[in-house]
Amino acid sequence: MGREVLPVNRNLGVLISGRGSNLQAIIDAIAAGRLDARIRVVISNRADAQGLVRARDAGIETLVISHRAFASREMFDGAVVAELAAREVALVCLAGFMRLLSPAFISAYPNRILNIHPALLPAFPGLDAQHQAWEHGVKITGATVHIVTADLDAGPIVLQKAVPVFDDDTSETLAARILEEEHRIYPEAIRIVLDGEWRIEGRRFIRSPQ
Ligand code: GRF
Repeated sequence: MGREVLPVNRNLGVLISGRGSNLQAIIDAIAAGRLDARIRVVISNRADAQGLVRARDAGIETLVISHRAFASREMFDGAVVAELAAREVALVCLAGFMRLLSPAFISAYPNRILNIHPALLPAFPGLDAQHQAWEHGVKITGATVHIVTADLDAGPIVLQKAVPVFDDDTSETLAARILEEEHRIYPEAIRIVLDGEWRIEGRRFIRSPQ
Protein backbone atom coordinates (compact mmCIF):
# COMPACT_ATOMS: atom_id res chain seq x y z
CA MET A 1 0.00 0.00 0.00
CA GLY A 2 1.45 3.35 -1.02
CA ARG A 3 1.22 6.55 0.93
CA GLU A 4 -1.75 8.50 -0.38
CA VAL A 5 -1.44 12.10 -1.50
CA LEU A 6 -4.62 13.67 -0.19
CA PRO A 7 -6.10 16.90 -1.47
CA VAL A 8 -4.49 19.79 0.41
CA ASN A 9 -7.48 22.11 0.06
CA ARG A 10 -11.00 21.99 -1.35
CA ASN A 11 -10.26 23.69 -4.66
CA LEU A 12 -11.63 21.86 -7.68
CA GLY A 13 -10.68 22.13 -11.33
CA VAL A 14 -13.31 20.69 -13.66
CA LEU A 15 -12.34 19.59 -17.18
CA ILE A 16 -15.06 19.34 -19.80
CA SER A 17 -15.52 18.96 -23.53
CA GLY A 18 -19.28 19.27 -24.01
CA ARG A 19 -22.70 19.40 -22.41
CA GLY A 20 -21.52 19.83 -18.83
CA SER A 21 -24.48 18.30 -17.00
CA ASN A 22 -22.16 16.65 -14.48
CA LEU A 23 -20.43 19.99 -14.00
CA GLN A 24 -23.89 21.43 -13.33
CA ALA A 25 -24.56 18.73 -10.74
CA ILE A 26 -21.33 19.69 -8.95
CA ILE A 27 -22.23 23.40 -9.12
CA ASP A 28 -25.70 22.63 -7.74
CA ALA A 29 -24.37 20.42 -4.93
CA ILE A 30 -22.03 23.18 -3.81
CA ALA A 31 -24.80 25.80 -4.00
CA ALA A 32 -27.13 23.56 -1.98
CA GLY A 33 -24.52 22.99 0.73
CA ARG A 34 -24.24 19.26 -0.03
CA LEU A 35 -20.62 19.64 -1.11
CA ASP A 36 -18.10 21.85 0.66
CA ALA A 37 -15.79 22.77 -2.20
CA ARG A 38 -14.97 25.57 -4.57
CA ILE A 39 -14.66 25.23 -8.34
CA ARG A 40 -11.67 27.44 -9.07
CA VAL A 41 -11.73 26.94 -12.83
CA VAL A 42 -13.55 25.07 -15.60
CA ILE A 43 -11.30 24.20 -18.52
CA SER A 44 -12.62 23.01 -21.87
CA ASN A 45 -10.63 21.85 -24.86
CA ARG A 46 -13.55 22.98 -27.03
CA ALA A 47 -14.76 26.56 -27.31
CA ASP A 48 -18.32 25.45 -28.11
CA ALA A 49 -18.79 23.32 -24.98
CA GLN A 50 -22.19 24.04 -23.47
CA GLY A 51 -20.68 23.51 -20.04
CA LEU A 52 -18.73 26.75 -20.42
CA VAL A 53 -22.03 28.65 -20.39
CA ARG A 54 -23.11 26.80 -17.25
CA ALA A 55 -19.85 27.75 -15.54
CA ARG A 56 -20.05 31.40 -16.56
CA ASP A 57 -23.67 31.56 -15.39
CA ALA A 58 -22.46 30.34 -12.01
CA GLY A 59 -19.71 32.97 -11.90
CA ILE A 60 -16.89 30.46 -12.30
CA GLU A 61 -13.75 31.27 -14.24
CA THR A 62 -13.52 29.44 -17.56
CA LEU A 63 -10.62 28.73 -19.88
CA VAL A 64 -10.59 27.26 -23.35
CA ILE A 65 -7.37 25.44 -24.12
CA SER A 66 -7.61 23.81 -27.52
CA HIS A 67 -5.61 20.63 -27.84
CA ARG A 68 -5.20 21.53 -31.51
CA ALA A 69 -2.94 24.42 -30.56
CA PHE A 70 -0.30 22.04 -29.18
CA ALA A 71 2.14 19.78 -30.99
CA SER A 72 1.74 16.90 -28.55
CA ARG A 73 -0.53 15.53 -25.84
CA GLU A 74 2.22 16.21 -23.28
CA MET A 75 2.40 19.88 -24.25
CA PHE A 76 -1.38 20.30 -24.08
CA ASP A 77 -1.48 18.55 -20.72
CA GLY A 78 1.39 20.70 -19.47
CA ALA A 79 -0.57 23.84 -20.28
CA VAL A 80 -3.66 22.50 -18.49
CA VAL A 81 -1.68 21.44 -15.41
CA ALA A 82 0.00 24.86 -15.26
CA GLU A 83 -3.40 26.58 -15.17
CA LEU A 84 -4.68 24.21 -12.49
CA ALA A 85 -1.55 24.65 -10.39
CA ALA A 86 -1.71 28.45 -10.73
CA ARG A 87 -5.15 28.27 -9.06
CA GLU A 88 -4.03 25.85 -6.34
CA VAL A 89 -6.42 23.19 -7.56
CA ALA A 90 -6.15 20.14 -5.30
CA LEU A 91 -8.63 17.82 -7.01
CA VAL A 92 -9.22 17.53 -10.74
CA CYS A 93 -12.66 16.36 -11.87
CA LEU A 94 -13.06 15.07 -15.41
CA ALA A 95 -16.65 15.60 -16.46
CA GLY A 96 -17.10 14.52 -20.04
CA PHE A 97 -13.54 15.51 -20.91
CA MET A 98 -12.84 13.70 -24.17
CA ARG A 99 -9.05 13.59 -23.97
CA LEU A 100 -6.78 10.91 -22.60
CA LEU A 101 -4.40 12.18 -19.94
CA SER A 102 -0.66 11.70 -20.35
CA PRO A 103 1.40 10.02 -17.59
CA ALA A 104 2.89 13.44 -16.78
CA PHE A 105 -0.59 14.87 -16.04
CA ILE A 106 -1.48 11.89 -13.88
CA SER A 107 1.74 12.06 -11.88
CA ALA A 108 1.19 15.79 -11.29
CA TYR A 109 -2.06 14.84 -9.48
CA PRO A 110 -1.50 11.35 -8.01
CA ASN A 111 -4.83 9.94 -6.77
CA ARG A 112 -6.27 13.41 -7.19
CA ILE A 113 -8.02 13.08 -10.52
CA LEU A 114 -11.58 11.71 -10.67
CA ASN A 115 -13.65 10.61 -13.65
CA ILE A 116 -17.29 9.69 -14.09
CA HIS A 117 -18.09 6.81 -16.42
CA PRO A 118 -21.60 5.79 -17.55
CA ALA A 119 -21.33 2.05 -16.85
CA LEU A 120 -20.47 -0.31 -14.02
CA LEU A 121 -16.73 -0.62 -14.57
CA PRO A 122 -14.87 -2.77 -15.41
CA ALA A 123 -17.76 -3.55 -17.78
CA PHE A 124 -17.99 -1.37 -20.87
CA PRO A 125 -14.98 0.95 -20.66
CA GLY A 126 -14.33 3.45 -23.42
CA LEU A 127 -16.73 5.39 -25.59
CA ASP A 128 -20.52 4.98 -25.81
CA ALA A 129 -20.67 2.85 -22.68
CA GLN A 130 -24.44 3.19 -22.41
CA HIS A 131 -24.90 1.94 -25.96
CA GLN A 132 -22.39 -0.87 -25.40
CA ALA A 133 -24.38 -2.05 -22.36
CA TRP A 134 -27.75 -1.76 -24.14
CA GLU A 135 -26.46 -3.62 -27.18
CA HIS A 136 -24.88 -6.33 -25.06
CA GLY A 137 -28.24 -6.92 -23.41
CA VAL A 138 -27.21 -6.60 -19.77
CA LYS A 139 -30.11 -6.24 -17.33
CA ILE A 140 -28.18 -3.99 -14.96
CA THR A 141 -25.69 -1.27 -15.78
CA GLY A 142 -24.92 1.95 -13.98
CA ALA A 143 -22.42 4.69 -13.25
CA THR A 144 -18.94 4.70 -11.75
CA VAL A 145 -16.73 7.38 -10.25
CA HIS A 146 -13.12 6.30 -10.21
CA ILE A 147 -9.64 7.63 -9.65
CA VAL A 148 -7.82 8.23 -12.91
CA THR A 149 -4.69 6.20 -13.51
CA ALA A 150 -2.65 5.58 -16.63
CA ASP A 151 -4.99 2.75 -17.66
CA LEU A 152 -8.18 3.94 -19.36
CA ASP A 153 -11.28 3.69 -17.13
CA ALA A 154 -9.44 1.25 -14.85
CA GLY A 155 -8.45 3.18 -11.71
CA PRO A 156 -9.68 2.50 -8.16
CA ILE A 157 -13.46 2.77 -7.86
CA VAL A 158 -14.77 5.38 -5.41
CA LEU A 159 -18.53 4.96 -5.90
CA GLN A 160 -20.89 3.03 -8.14
CA LYS A 161 -24.64 3.01 -8.61
CA ALA A 162 -26.58 0.32 -10.43
CA VAL A 163 -29.30 1.18 -12.95
CA PRO A 164 -31.81 -1.34 -14.38
CA VAL A 165 -32.18 -1.89 -18.11
CA PHE A 166 -35.78 -2.38 -19.25
CA ASP A 167 -36.98 -4.32 -22.29
CA ASP A 168 -38.43 -1.22 -23.91
CA ASP A 169 -35.30 0.90 -23.39
CA THR A 170 -33.49 2.48 -26.27
CA SER A 171 -29.87 3.34 -25.66
CA GLU A 172 -31.07 6.94 -25.26
CA THR A 173 -33.64 6.21 -22.53
CA LEU A 174 -31.06 4.07 -20.78
CA ALA A 175 -28.45 6.83 -21.01
CA ALA A 176 -30.91 9.30 -19.48
CA ARG A 177 -31.58 6.95 -16.53
CA ILE A 178 -27.84 6.47 -15.98
CA LEU A 179 -27.24 10.22 -16.17
CA GLU A 180 -29.60 10.84 -13.25
CA GLU A 181 -27.42 8.58 -11.11
CA GLU A 182 -24.22 10.16 -12.40
CA HIS A 183 -25.49 13.49 -11.13
CA ARG A 184 -26.08 11.98 -7.69
CA ILE A 185 -22.85 10.07 -7.26
CA TYR A 186 -20.31 12.51 -8.68
CA PRO A 187 -20.75 15.24 -6.04
CA GLU A 188 -20.94 12.53 -3.37
CA ALA A 189 -17.68 10.94 -4.55
CA ILE A 190 -15.95 14.33 -4.59
CA ARG A 191 -17.09 14.90 -1.01
CA ILE A 192 -15.72 11.51 0.05
CA VAL A 193 -12.34 12.13 -1.58
CA LEU A 194 -12.04 15.67 -0.19
CA ASP A 195 -12.94 14.52 3.30
CA GLY A 196 -9.90 12.29 3.15
CA GLU A 197 -10.99 9.29 5.23
CA TRP A 198 -9.80 6.74 2.72
CA ARG A 199 -6.86 4.76 1.52
CA ILE A 200 -6.00 2.63 -1.47
CA GLU A 201 -4.94 -1.00 -1.11
CA GLY A 202 -4.02 -2.63 -4.37
CA ARG A 203 -6.75 -1.28 -6.59
CA ARG A 204 -9.33 -1.07 -3.78
CA PHE A 205 -10.51 2.34 -2.58
CA ILE A 206 -11.31 1.83 1.09
CA ARG A 207 -13.20 4.32 3.23
CA SER A 208 -11.91 4.35 6.77
CA PRO A 209 -10.05 6.56 9.21
CA GLN A 210 -6.37 6.89 8.32
C1 GRF B 1 -21.33 11.50 -19.09
O1 GRF B 1 -22.16 10.45 -19.52
C2 GRF B 1 -20.12 10.96 -18.39
O2 GRF B 1 -20.37 9.78 -17.68
C3 GRF B 1 -19.18 10.69 -19.54
O3 GRF B 1 -19.40 11.74 -20.44
C4 GRF B 1 -20.72 12.25 -20.27
C5 GRF B 1 -20.58 13.71 -19.99
O4 GRF B 1 -21.83 14.35 -19.91
N1 GRF B 1 -17.82 10.60 -19.08
P1 GRF B 1 -21.92 15.83 -19.38
O5 GRF B 1 -21.01 16.67 -20.28
O6 GRF B 1 -21.46 15.84 -17.95
O7 GRF B 1 -23.37 16.23 -19.52
